[in-house]
Order: sequence, then C-alpha cells, then structure tokens
Amino acid sequence: MVFEHNLFFCFPIFLDVLISSTNMLQRIQNRVFLTGRARFSTAVVVESVSDAMKQARKNPYPYIYCSDESEKEYKYATKKGNFQTFTLPRVIEHSAHCVELGKEIVRAFRTDGLLQINMEDSMKESAEKALAANREYCKMSLDIKSKHVSPSTFSGYIRSGEEQTDGEQDASEIFTVTPDIPSDDWRVQSKMPCHGPVPWPNDHYKDSMKNYMTEIGKVGDNMTKLISLGLGLEMDAIAKLCSDGWHHMRVLHFPPQKATKIERGIGSHTDYGLLVLAAQDDVGALYIRPPVKGELRLNNWLDGHSMAGMYESEDPWTYVTPVPNVLTCFPGDMFQLLTNGYLVSTPHKVGLNATRERFALAYFHEPKFSSSIRTLPQFSNPDGKDHAIHYGKHFTNMFMRCYPNRITTKNLVENGYPAKFDSIIEKLSQA
Ligand SMILES: [Fe+2]
Repeated sequence: MVFEHNLFFCFPIFLDVLISSTNMLQRIQNRVFLTGRARFSTAVVVESVSDAMKQARKNPYPYIYCSDESEKEYKYATKKGNFQTFTLPRVIEHSAHCVELGKEIVRAFRTDGLLQINMEDSMKESAEKALAANREYCKMSLDIKSKHVSPSTFSGYIRSGEEQTDGEQDASEIFTVTPDIPSDDWRVQSKMPCHGPVPWPNDHYKDSMKNYMTEIGKVGDNMTKLISLGLGLEMDAIAKLCSDGWHHMRVLHFPPQKATKIERGIGSHTDYGLLVLAAQDDVGALYIRPPVKGELRLNNWLDGHSMAGMYESEDPWTYVTPVPNVLTCFPGDMFQLLTNGYLVSTPHKVGLNATRERFALAYFHEPKFSSSIRTLPQFSNPDGKDHAIHYGKHFTNMFMRCYPNRITTKNLVENGYPAKFDSIIEKLSQA
C-alpha cells in the first residue's frame, strides 16, 4: 500500500521534497483534473496545484491509491473480462481450505476488481423468479409505477432519467428495495431516516424479491466470512458488522439504446456500501475498472470526495461478459474504508445494448444501519488518522446526493436532517 501521502498531509514541511517527485506531481495534477470534473455541490473543485495542496491540508484523512504492488500490468484498453469463478462451501469454518479460499478471493479483488460465484440451484431458481417479476413490473405504465414511491425511505420506483451520475442522466429504470420496516415500528415512529415500509407494487413482486434477498443474503454472509479469513481476521469480524445489516437491492432495467435519448445505462461510480452481489441476464453492458497501480481512488464517504464520473472515458475498463448462473461480486466503499484501501471499491459503469433491453439485480450486503465503521486496526494508519463513519448517516447522505429532488430527500431536510439526526442515533444505540 502507498502511504507517502500520509507524510504529505501530516507533515507539510516535507512538501517541497515530495512535490519534486515527478510521480507525485503527476498524481496531484490528476487529482486536480479529476475532482474538477465532479459536478456535485459538495465536490472540491480546484484550479491549480497550490489550490489542491490547500484543500489537501484541510482534509484530515489521507487519500487512497491502488497498491503499487498490484499483481497485474494492464494494457490500457477495454477488454473482455476473464474473471475467476468460485464455488463457495455451504458452511464456512476456520479451516485451511476456507482460509486459502478467502485469500484467493482477496487476491481476485485486488487483481481483477471483480469475481464470479457459481449459484446453487435454489439461488438460480429465485434469481430467475426475481428477474421475471422485474420484467413483468417494467411493463406496467409509468403512471402506475410512479405511485410506488415512499415518502420516508428511498425504496420504490425510480424512472429512467431520474437518477444522475456526475450530473448526467442515466437511462436505468430502478426499483430499490430497502429493509421493509412496518409503520408502527418505533424507529419509523421516531422518524429515523430511511426507515419505513417498502411501497411494493404487488404481493408476487414482493415475495419474489424477498425470497431472492434471503438466498443471496446467505451468499453475502459466507463471502464476508471468507474475506475476513483471507484478510487474516477473525472469521466473524466483518459478518458481525452485517448482522441485522441494512441489506438492500436495486432491481434494474435498462432500455435499448434505440428506445431512449439517454446515451448510457449508468455513469461510472463506486457503490457506497460493503459488498455488491449482482445477477444479470444474457444481454450484458456492465464494465468494471480493475485496480490500476498507483491510481487515485477517492473516499466517497468524505464530504468533497466523489468517484462519480471519475475515469469515465479513460481506460482500462473490463467488460463483464454475462455468464449463465453466476453472481458477480465486487467490493464497495466500506471495504475501502475498513481496509484503508487494501481492497479498493470497484468503479463500474453500464452501457446500453443497441436493440435489446437488459435486466439485472444488484444486491448490497451491508453493515447494520446503526453501526460505526472505522478502519480495522490491522490496516490502521501509523499516525492514527483512520477513517470512521456512522453507516446509517453515510447511507442517507449517499441517497440524498443521488436523489436531490426526491420526496424522501425533501422530507428529510424538512425534518431537520442532518442536525436532528445525532439525537436519534443516540436513541438507537440505547435500544
Ligand atoms: Fe453501482
């Protein structure tokens, strides 16, 4: 892992020496260029290297770069992926086999940015049913679908073009499923952000999605155990964080290019959560960015950082060829935080097929809403300036950033978010 920036941020006296390194200067210039592209109101936009340095000094945390020890050299061109495919044991235990498997998984993330997991039969069946329910749902009229919105949660329908990445419209049509919490639950009554019932369109859709999430939740649980073992941690170190986790899903539909004026499915971004497990049909349009030696990766959880739009048109990107009956899996921002960049969050983007519509299910295996997430001691910075966040607040901030005009965002602001949120966090921690 590259830590020279810790010195840069903590001991400005070394600045002149460090800046004389061509490599370092190049990286700072990259940062100026890249953050300059971000168009969110919270983005740090800087005009010059000296401005970049001023901004950097204000930031208490070091930036994260991909390891200079990456195993692979990438030729800078989009290529078809040839990802490793894993078959997971039914039960994960602290055995030599599972430790070795965990290390292979970690190596695959660090090398390719994504891996594949063979689905068990029950998983295949529930994935097919969920994809079929999605196809049926998307045939409904826009008028009907637009009613499936929740005022208190970010679950429900998102029409094509509503979501923006880096200020540009995405063509994706989405139904987001967040934890389905009844209205009489005290957290909903207390106006805990993002808590409430899912505005399901019908029981068949609800059952299909819930069954699928139960099945894939088991995969998520096993993956966190294997990754813990692969990182040399206690087997349950990460799984414990995800007990009663804020697991959620984006049920996705992408129209064919010919049917929309929008040019892309979803612009490049990283996912804000812990672990992404996705199923896709045979159409294909997903690209991921592997770890690139020494490349800057911003920390989405920090104000002023956004990976949205970064490297959108810069190679390398790897095309994720659809493979029947596998899940694709990659780390999100919370793994970057937990491991201080040993595992970086995988940037990805989605194109549109010229003539065929595409369906996919993106499931996010997450920490508990009320959990505090900080860098694991094993990956701690020597100066103690480790990253730490409240997961629920992070989730809320990310959704508010993605959907500034949604009713949920407006209600949160009217209800005093974020100022009133700290007292609610306190209440939840005592529950
Ligand atoms: Fe994503």
